[in-house]
Amino acid sequence: MALEIRVDGLVMTYGDLRAVDGVSFTVAPGEFFGLLGPNGAGKTTTLEMIEGLRRPQAGTVRIGDHEPWRRESGLQRRMGVQLQASSFFERLTVREQLDTFGALYGVAAGRTDAMLEQVGLVDKAGVRTEDLSGGQLQRLSIACALIHDPDVVFLDEPTAALDPQARRNLWDVLRTINDSGRTVVLTTHHMDEAEVLCDRVAIMDAGRVLELDTPAALVRGLDAPVRISLAPGTLSAADARSIAGDDPVDEDAGGLTITTRRPAEVLSALADRDALSGLSVKGASLEDVFLELTGREYRA
Ligand SMILES: Nc1ncnc2c1ncn2[C@@H]1O[C@H](COP(=O)(O)OP(=O)(O)OP(=O)(O)O)[C@@H](O)[C@H]1O
Ligand SMILES: [Mg+2]
Repeated sequence: MALEIRVDGLVMTYGDLRAVDGVSFTVAPGEFFGLLGPNGAGKTTTLEMIEGLRRPQAGTVRIGDHEPWRRESGLQRRMGVQLQASSFFERLTVREQLDTFGALYGVAAGRTDAMLEQVGLVDKAGVRTEDLSGGQLQRLSIACALIHDPDVVFLDEPTAALDPQARRNLWDVLRTINDSGRTVVLTTHHMDEAEVLCDRVAIMDAGRVLELDTPAALVRGLDAPVRISLAPGTLSAADARSIAGDDPVDEDAGGLTITTRRPAEVLSALADRDALSGLSVKGASLEDVFLELTGREYRA
């Protein structure tokens, strides 16, 4: 029951600011899709138009056969939405929040326990939301978005406030949801997260999509050199330079680093000299693509 999302020429302006300036893409049924971009790029505004929370000033969104801004209940029931800033019913406990959200969607009460388990809030079931930590609130908002087992899930920076363990747990939850054929769209500032989870990512800045592809293709497109670092004492600087040829060799307290576009040759020469122990090889990552495209220091 996966749904396709088609976004065509979306525009949203606030005064003189074109917050979203002609955004188009298609998310295939069952795809895991990421929106990346610096603060203010227009990710949340784009997502809110896709979710039907804002009517586009220009352009169209279709989810399956529906236009989300019409807010037809047939689509609402199939969509799970986690907002960047979420709010809850006042003075209810975690369990009561989930029961209430579930009841709104006509979900059997048993789902609450399953969701508490999935997001690691079993211990907090009886606690009022006012008394939760930031990360716990975020887990609750994710549980509320998933309680009715939606076919398409939108998450706006779902892991922003989570500790590393909770992040990994959420990755597992999202992977399971996606593996069962559901479409997932998320925004994130964690490049590693996008690289691990997303089939394709759109990198946005200043209201436009700069690049859209699989993480691997984006990284390949960068044609960036590989950094090969040798532990101190494995090889003399002179030997490293003779292997590196024209490629730069940097030396610091951590050892020697050769930056090269012909890693196979360099590694094989290092193997011949028995200099592979403690070696580390670092290629370009999505973070490098992001920096290259947006030309900004990336801050999580
Ligand atoms: N209601 C609003 N009124 C005026 N300007 C707005 C409004 N909402 C967003 N903006 C502006 O639109 C631009 C895009 O905002 P948006 O929230 O979509 O960015 P974002 O990519 O989600 O950023 P972040 O990574 O910080 O969440 C920003 O410059 C923001 O200041
Ligand atoms: Mg945002």
